[in-house]
Amino acid sequence: MDYKKLKFATRQIHAGLDHNEPTGARGVAIYPTAAYRFKTCDYAADLFELSEAGNIYTRLQNPTTTAYEERIAALYGGVGAMALASGMAALLITFTSLASAGDNIVTTPYLYGGTYNQFRHTLRRLGIEVRIAPDENPSTLAALIDGRTRAVFAESMGNPTCAVPDLEAIAAVAHAAGVPFVVDNTFGAGGYLCNPFDWGADIVADSATKWINGHGTAMGGVIVDGGTFPWNNGRFPQIDGPSEGYHGLNLYEAFGPAAFIVKCRVDGQRDMGTCPSPFDSYLMMLGLETLSLRVRHQVESTRRLAEYLKAHPKVKRVSYVGFEDHPSHANASRYFRYGASGVLNVELTGDIDTTVRFVEALELAAHMTMIGDSITVVTHPASTTHKQLSEADLKAAGVTPTLLRVSPGLEDTDDIIADFEQAFAKTGL
Ligand SMILES: Cc1ncc(COP(=O)(O)O)c(C=O)c1O
Repeated sequence: MDYKKLKFATRQIHAGLDHNEPTGARGVAIYPTAAYRFKTCDYAADLFELSEAGNIYTRLQNPTTTAYEERIAALYGGVGAMALASGMAALLITFTSLASAGDNIVTTPYLYGGTYNQFRHTLRRLGIEVRIAPDENPSTLAALIDGRTRAVFAESMGNPTCAVPDLEAIAAVAHAAGVPFVVDNTFGAGGYLCNPFDWGADIVADSATKWINGHGTAMGGVIVDGGTFPWNNGRFPQIDGPSEGYHGLNLYEAFGPAAFIVKCRVDGQRDMGTCPSPFDSYLMMLGLETLSLRVRHQVESTRRLAEYLKAHPKVKRVSYVGFEDHPSHANASRYFRYGASGVLNVELTGDIDTTVRFVEALELAAHMTMIGDSITVVTHPASTTHKQLSEADLKAAGVTPTLLRVSPGLEDTDDIIADFEQAFAKTGL
């Protein structure tokens, strides 16, 4: 089926399903198998040489996961996708497929905390330097690029600040330097709210744990290859050059525009073992069937909750990209659709103790480090994710003692607002 002709809401249900499936089953089957019988030794040899496509071992591919990957690739309009065990795994395999010891990656500063850790510690220990720009201006990023840069990176909407960089301008900076633009599009909800390929990105890496799964039932990550980057510019011999692991096979010559995603699978997934379980791939596929419906509801609840909180006397400040006073309002309006964001940040009056009491007084909303769940989530960074930080670091990260991050779920919005109202009353704020 040519999914390009279908709208997003149709693709999220049909892509990846085999309409000629022999049992006639409506859904995708879960294949709880580690390995696959080879019909002949020659066939097995061809699979291992990459001259034939097929299942070898579930660390590399699994029919349930393949169906899920086809759905993700169809949603993004990419040439291929690979599913992984987590969003952190997606970033790790992306960067280690692009860069080697002595190379560097240039990134915007407004990143998820776990990504900072991977950049500052793990990639550094592997000899890959990550140059974190002091701001997200394209010219600031351009100034950090040199002959050993192998990618420019940004989150399409930063977690938790909701900062939205100028994607199109940053893509131009990366391309002028002959390197791909990699975007973590977790907040772009599987391409529904934002599709970075529309704005010049070459590779997308997401945490599927969030909106893609949508129900907080499984961890996952995806890498999507837009198929647009010309790998034969001399900077990527691991893609356009002889592969040691495959008797000198040149992945770019063999797989053309899909060379990068093949590289992620046949080297990254093979060697680092970051594969998802087939059951989790099934949960992701199920979650995807309702992605657009869930996200539309969550974006609308975020807007209503933001307006309610803005007018509340016990609220000091609401940071929401839908409001004109948010520094990223213009970029969010340009690069994101349908109301832009399913996350807001709010600073309450009072102090850290009253804020803790407020969080504990919430009855529907859950206190978790999660976003994009069907349950409304409230996170208090000062007592959780950012507890170890010094006061200076907290200030730099914009985390105040009374700040809360809110990701509305799928409950009726009136009930979410009523929950906040009763928590304000109970806390005596
Ligand atoms: C923007 C972003 N990228 C990556 C990750 C990491 O994903 P995971 O928790 O699935 O490993 C997260 C997790 O919150 C995230 O918010």
